[in-house]
Amino acid sequence: MKNVNLSDIKVLFDENEIRTKVKEIANKLNEYYKDEEVCIVCVLKGAVIFATDLVRELTMPLTMEFIRLSSYGHSTASSGKVNAVDIKLPDLTGKNVLIVEDIIDTGLTAKFLLDFIALNFKTKSTKFVSLLDKKCSRQADVEADYYCFEIDDKFVVGYGLDYDSKFRNLKFIGYADKSVIK
Ligand code: IMP
Ligand code: MG
Repeated sequence: MKNVNLSDIKVLFDENEIRTKVKEIANKLNEYYKDEEVCIVCVLKGAVIFATDLVRELTMPLTMEFIRLSSYGHSTASSGKVNAVDIKLPDLTGKNVLIVEDIIDTGLTAKFLLDFIALNFKTKSTKFVSLLDKKCSRQADVEADYYCFEIDDKFVVGYGLDYDSKFRNLKFIGYADKSVIK
């Protein structure tokens, strides 16, 4: 992988835009669930920053679970295969499940997880919220119920998302030109 420096990264959504959007989506979720209990399923590692900001804006009683899936390895393109690194979950039967993801790209990860939950538990409801939606690269037939921002075919980093394990801690969501990362 190419070495990418912070100076190569351009801002796509700044801290304020993200904060405003996260609150807006949280308000929609608060309205939808009212006082019903929700089990948040956060997909590590990418969604951790989004999930921790989102849950602090949610008002219903909730629990949090963390699972780890990977499809990228050391590349910027999906391998096409989803690897369930750690998918231990409690019994979600009868629960309202809200999956929190960083980005839906090909949709293979989202599809894998939705199928896994449908196969193993009879949930009361299963919803999917994603920070980003890259609709243009979809391969699997899956849509987020809620998302903060739609983006075009860019490789993005920051606010949880990484390039070669780096840049997860950026307060903004940014991108590097294709010529920089490939
Ligand atoms: P999908 O299975 O192709 O939808 O990819 C989902 C996973 O790939 C996400 O959960 C991310 O971890 C990773 N991913 C996809 N696009 C990007 C990107 O632009 N930047 C960083 N990670 C990405
Ligand atoms: Mg991810």
